[in-house]
Amino acid sequence: MSDHHQLQRRTDAEGFENPGLEPHRPRLSDRDPAAAKRVELQVVALFGVSVLASIVGVAGFFLFPAGVSLGTLRVGNTVLGVGLGLGFLGIGLGAIHWAKALMNTTEQVEERHPLRSDPATRAAAVAALEAGLDDTRIARRPLLKGALASALVFAPLPVLVPLVGNLTPDWDISRFARTAWRNKPEGAPGRRLATDPDDVPIRAADVTNGSVFHVIPHRLGELEGEEEFLNEKAKAVVLLVRMDPSEMTISPGREDWSYHGIIAFSKVCTHVGCPVALYEQNTKHLLCPCHQSTFDLANEARVIFGPANRPLPQLPISVDDEGYLIATSDFTEPVGPSYWERLK
Ligand code: FES
Repeated sequence: MSDHHQLQRRTDAEGFENPGLEPHRPRLSDRDPAAAKRVELQVVALFGVSVLASIVGVAGFFLFPAGVSLGTLRVGNTVLGVGLGLGFLGIGLGAIHWAKALMNTTEQVEERHPLRSDPATRAAAVAALEAGLDDTRIARRPLLKGALASALVFAPLPVLVPLVGNLTPDWDISRFARTAWRNKPEGAPGRRLATDPDDVPIRAADVTNGSVFHVIPHRLGELEGEEEFLNEKAKAVVLLVRMDPSEMTISPGREDWSYHGIIAFSKVCTHVGCPVALYEQNTKHLLCPCHQSTFDLANEARVIFGPANRPLPQLPISVDDEGYLIATSDFTEPVGPSYWERLK
């Protein structure tokens, strides 16, 4: 081992300057071999618990097969999870106990060789750099130097400008709430709700209790170009359901947003925008298939499970003189993912 690269073992007693750590105090296990043996057995016991727990976990997987019933699936998963957890816990506790009670806690210092090169090597490096610089003739050609500097300054701009531009706060969140529902025929009380893709307006009388409709805004013909409509359609799509009004919780200000138990919510998941579509009639829960966010439609689509962190926006609806369902206004809050909430 070289002078510069030696592993030194020092103790406080030998003059090692402790950088603020607790000085090593001899433990019972350092002084008493019987105590050390006891600690060893404790560590072995912890590792043994880990082994046993892992075996029980694996046994649970076979003893309670997933395909038999929901009950066995639950028990099997629980045993597997507990076994796995205790298995790792035993290893962790055993390792910590081992390290704290048996391992050597003496400070060890490894001295490194100096990072600085010797003078001859450094002089040779500087000479090589200077020769290279001289080779470029840059010192004698200021025009070239200026052109190079300009090119280096301008080259990153195509990356930096859009980057900085996109980072500039654009907190007009209300634009996410502007959908095709805001457009309506001249003089009409609202825009009709229609089936997709047939574009057939929906009468309130046709929506029976428990039914679910995938709904889009009824086309406005000349009033709204085809391209504009297609661009807006995905954002405006809603899910229409009907339930017993007595089962619904309605907050103040939303009393006239539904019609005899018919309610409409945005179909765009507020997590990352997948279409929520799996409706369970009994529970009134709506599930997003992407990451299992679950919304309670009887309770204004509040999130009851999953990663979404706000309810699905509700579309205020009513009926017109002919009994067709209409949206009385656009959404009053942004539809779709709520990433902007984290940026606020
Ligand atoms: S997109 Fe719906 S839960 Fe993730």
